Amino acid sequence: MNWYENAIFYELYPRAFADGNGDGYGDFAGIRSRLDYLEWLGVDCIWMTPVYPSPLRDDGYDVSSYYGIDPMYGLMEDFQLTVDEIHRRGMRIIVDLVVNHTSDLHPWFVEARRSKDSPMRDYYVWTNDPEKYSEARIIFIDTEESNWAYDEHSGEYYWHRFYSNQPDLNYDNPQVRAEMMKILDFWLRMGIDGFRVDAVPYLFERDGTNCENLPETHEFIREMRRYVDEHYPGTLLLAEANQWPGDLLPYFGDGDEFQMCFHFPVMPRLYMALAQKDRQSVVDILAKTPPIPAGCQWATFLRNHDELTLEMVTDEDRQFMWDYYAPESRQRLNLGIRRRLAPLMDGDRRRIELMYSLLLTLPGAPVLYYGDEIGMGDNVALDDRNGVRTPMQWNDSANGGFSTAPLENLYNPPVSGPDYGYTHTNVLAQEVTPGSMLHVIRHMVRTRREIPVLARGKLTWLDHLPQHVMCFWRENGGQRVLALHNLTDESITLELPEADGLHDALNEDSSVETEITLPPYGFRWLIEPTEAKSA
Ligand code: NOJ
Repeated sequence: MNWYENAIFYELYPRAFADGNGDGYGDFAGIRSRLDYLEWLGVDCIWMTPVYPSPLRDDGYDVSSYYGIDPMYGLMEDFQLTVDEIHRRGMRIIVDLVVNHTSDLHPWFVEARRSKDSPMRDYYVWTNDPEKYSEARIIFIDTEESNWAYDEHSGEYYWHRFYSNQPDLNYDNPQVRAEMMKILDFWLRMGIDGFRVDAVPYLFERDGTNCENLPETHEFIREMRRYVDEHYPGTLLLAEANQWPGDLLPYFGDGDEFQMCFHFPVMPRLYMALAQKDRQSVVDILAKTPPIPAGCQWATFLRNHDELTLEMVTDEDRQFMWDYYAPESRQRLNLGIRRRLAPLMDGDRRRIELMYSLLLTLPGAPVLYYGDEIGMGDNVALDDRNGVRTPMQWNDSANGGFSTAPLENLYNPPVSGPDYGYTHTNVLAQEVTPGSMLHVIRHMVRTRREIPVLARGKLTWLDHLPQHVMCFWRENGGQRVLALHNLTDESITLELPEADGLHDALNEDSSVETEITLPPYGFRWLIEPTEAKSA
């Protein structure tokens, strides 16, 4: 099995993680000082969101130079040191590669917009007809009215799928494609282990299409994969493509495109199943998820740095999710919900741990979002998606131990207050408390790493059981695990002759009977002992 198939990923938001130089912004020195924690937690691979120089209009996804580090995080040497430190601890690191667009302050765009005859004009997509490609949807519907923005200076419109300050690159231009290979080269030479490739579906535009998932995009991805395979074998490419399973599958190609893709559609359905006390939505989406080529893997997640996207659900389900999980309009953003896991679960530890158990036992390699492992809250008073990007809460000292800077110098304040404030919700408090949520999640993470069948094994539902439980086998030739989940707030007793002879993987001391009672939101992982297998 490839390392990434059974890996635990951790999404680290560098600005928010730890401030090493006391200026109020997270940085590499801070990250290095906290690597012990990630190693202790059981993380195999860190995904670091963009650290390129950027005007930060989209928190670094608006790149103004691909060959540098924003000074806020440190120097290039600092980045190298961080990569080396991560490797020294046996962990890996992937970084974001923003392929689809640049910042409008990127020198390519500054030059391109200078005049229609600029030698760089063709690095971007221009028109004088803003009706062109009108079948392409608008993604940031709360802020953008069109995918075209008028450039006063040169008198034409340029194409942008995200904010208007993020012009899309023109992938029909071979120079642009060559630039991307140079950029890959630059970062891979520093020894990183791969890329989370941002906004993959939108690289090309074609009349009469919705400008997503076009064959040309797949051709480019294959070119990129060939390049890394040849020059940096073993490099992981992970796709961010927010699409239905049928449209996602082609991104694995015949094993010659991405090794991993985020499974966007399954994520909201985990929340739906819990809210509806009914596993069906998860069963249905996994039934619609086609098998993937050998050596490939899904990346699964509960939350990330964006809104909890509801693009991949029906209108009816989206409304249900909004009504249930985001009753206040300010909790909504675009087609999603801008809240963190713990508040979504009403701070109920049992439900948070249940969601982690589902994430860790269903197919895929889990990607944890920083802070969710301690039940961090959010701050809806901050605009856009900033409310779920607040400082990591390390301890109960000033600024939650994130920074020694005066509060007013912080990029954003840490969450405070009785519910999720850093004075009580923090890493240290949970580290020193046996049985805390952090300990429970760490134990699950570490147990999961030892059970590779949970990564790629076949999934079989126990479909004779009532809808309000989510119980399934994960199995391959050599190992079998039975995962049991109670989606309700009442305890439930199950007759499970199939549990005969199994052991409790999470709690070695607890005996396993064939009549099993799951407490409210309870879960168990039952594993076939290795002796039985060889018998
Ligand atoms: C997806 C990223 O996750 C999001 O934060 C960003 O705004 C868009 N891509 C545009 O780069």
